[in-house]
Amino acid sequence: MARPEKHVFVCVHERPADHPDGSCGIKGSKQIVDGFAKEFQERNLWGRFKLNTTSCLGTCEHGPSVLVYPEGVLYQKVQAEDINVIIDKHLLGGKPVESLKISRDVWD
Ligand code: FES
Repeated sequence: MARPEKHVFVCVHERPADHPDGSCGIKGSKQIVDGFAKEFQERNLWGRFKLNTTSCLGTCEHGPSVLVYPEGVLYQKVQAEDINVIIDKHLLGGKPVESLKISRDVWD
């Protein structure tokens, strides 16, 4: 197996709906995983990119969270319509999608 160019990690961690931190799973992140998988399949991208589910990335309030390596770019509030944007601009085009990147002050 060739080394993937990029890894896409989608948080699917799920907490109860009334949990104060929220969670990506409650916000529909499993559909985001399915959306990436569908596009990878249709565009024959599995050989270039790896798709993985992951547990909590620490930015629960801003989920669904998607992390792309090797750049370490974390995307927030990813919706189905954002999937092709991330694939086209970041995975294929090499430029992170600035409008979807998590704000820096999340970590302060
Ligand atoms: S539950 Fe997804 S980042 Fe915490």
